[in-house]
Amino acid sequence: MKEEITFILNNDFVSVNIDSAIVLLDFIRKQKHLTGTKEGCKEGDCGACTVLICNLQNGKLGYQTVNSCLLPLGNVNNTHIVTIEGLNSNNLSNIQTEFIKEGASQCGFCTPGFIVSLSGYLINNQVYDTDAALNAIAGNICRCTGYISVKRAINNVLNKLKSTNHNDSDRISFLIENGILPDYFSTVAERLIKLKTEKSYGQHNGAKYIIAGGTDLYVQKPDELLEQEIIFIKNKKLSYINVDGNICSVGATATFEMINNSKIFQNHFPRLKNYFDLIASLPIRNSATVGGNIINASPIGDLTIFFLALNASVVLSNGVKKRKIILKDFYKGYKQLNINNDEFLEFVEFQLPSRDSRFNFEKVSKRTHLDIASVNSAMCIETNNDIISRIHISAGGVAPIPLYLENTSRFLLGKKITKDTLFESLPVIQSEISPINDIRGSAEYKRLLLNQLYKAHFIELFPELINVEELI
Ligand SMILES: Cc1cc2nc3c(=O)[nH]c(=O)nc-3n(C[C@H](O)[C@H](O)[C@H](O)COP(=O)(O)OP(=O)(O)OC[C@H]3O[C@@H](n4cnc5c(N)ncnc54)[C@H](O)[C@@H]3O)c2cc1C
Ligand code: FES
Ligand code: FES
Repeated sequence: MKEEITFILNNDFVSVNIDSAIVLLDFIRKQKHLTGTKEGCKEGDCGACTVLICNLQNGKLGYQTVNSCLLPLGNVNNTHIVTIEGLNSNNLSNIQTEFIKEGASQCGFCTPGFIVSLSGYLINNQVYDTDAALNAIAGNICRCTGYISVKRAINNVLNKLKSTNHNDSDRISFLIENGILPDYFSTVAERLIKLKTEKSYGQHNGAKYIIAGGTDLYVQKPDELLEQEIIFIKNKKLSYINVDGNICSVGATATFEMINNSKIFQNHFPRLKNYFDLIASLPIRNSATVGGNIINASPIGDLTIFFLALNASVVLSNGVKKRKIILKDFYKGYKQLNINNDEFLEFVEFQLPSRDSRFNFEKVSKRTHLDIASVNSAMCIETNNDIISRIHISAGGVAPIPLYLENTSRFLLGKKITKDTLFESLPVIQSEISPINDIRGSAEYKRLLLNQLYKAHFIELFPELINVEELI
């Protein structure tokens, strides 16, 4: 579907009439001949294609790392895109100089991605810390140099910046002064304001595909999306997290990282950061949306499992009428949803956990970090004198749908939290799941895993009542 796409690419204004489903990586390499950005996996896994995307947020520049291999041009409208070429000035940047000095680049294929990711980290943080910087580059994979020299180069950059006096309020100027960003960055805010305003949302218009972050769609069917009727739904108007009384609403295009950084979520889920450390890399979390996770209907979607345990509802709209469905009733079978062709998901709504509630999320993957789950599970529980007065448990990877453990939750209601109660409830769990053998593990392994994650919820949430040794 051709449309006018307007954005700033490095220091240049771009306005093209083009198929908006084409991914940015193909556009910058094939049409703009900016070949510094590399194509590795084209599935969001390697980070070779990492670029920065900047939207104006309340008049301020907000740069984020994203995987350009999964980023459709339709989501690039009105932004500033920075490739490795856009980080170069006449001389090498200080990050590039340190990479050379420390031998942190061998074949060089991954290097642009590392430099872009580290630049994104430096722009977005006021206080620099090695572990946090390493987390920010965790989505970048190097196949030949190894990471020790990369780590040394990063440490050198951080140490130099830490020792420089700077005015914390203007990070961009600070990084320009310190040879990390080229001068033109100081003109970007003004230039972005002059670009066109966003399109409205709310009409499905019979589009064949709705594209949000694109992180599922462009892995599943990249070619099918080209030259189709599509609608881009990622829009500031649907990217919000609001609270009214004790009800929290999360707009469908709120990203994983918005939730991770949300004070509302952090206050109500104190271990939130630990959960998100297990969920995708930063560039994916910057693109992936809540709506995409729920509608994709993967049985192991992490946020879907999270919201199921909050007994959340989804609000669907066709632009005229809205209807609300409890999330646990939304899934009818494998990838079958209670949604009409003319509807889109507008927001998710749930009651914030009360002071007496406890919440936990657990996930086990083949790789500990940045991998999709073999089995995941969440539990929200409220007790009165150790008696369970309210409980919702969810489990992923053990059924064709993201599963709300209806029978287990009902079984536990009114029971006292003891080791015996837990052991008595295990057969109930096992009777309501139906895992299959697949690449993430055998059915038997997943059954065992869910038992363990279920026990982990109680060990984590009720250490005063449940002794680990007794559960083994
Ligand atoms: C490398 C990699 C790692 C990943 N790791 C994880 C992980 O750890 N945990 C995890 O849960 N997921 C993971 N994912 C999967 C993916 O990022 C998530 O499922 C994400 O939430 C999808 O959101 P999106 O906005 O990118 O969806 P899209 O790809 O844009 O859309 C997905 C589906 O939802 C539909 N859709 C999107 N928004 C709406 C809406 N508002 N209304 C109606 N339909 C809509 C689309 O039409 C499409 O069918 C990973 C993906 C990649 C590529
Ligand atoms: S090419 Fe590997 S993440 Fe994009
Ligand atoms: S330097 Fe070769 S892949 Fe990293």
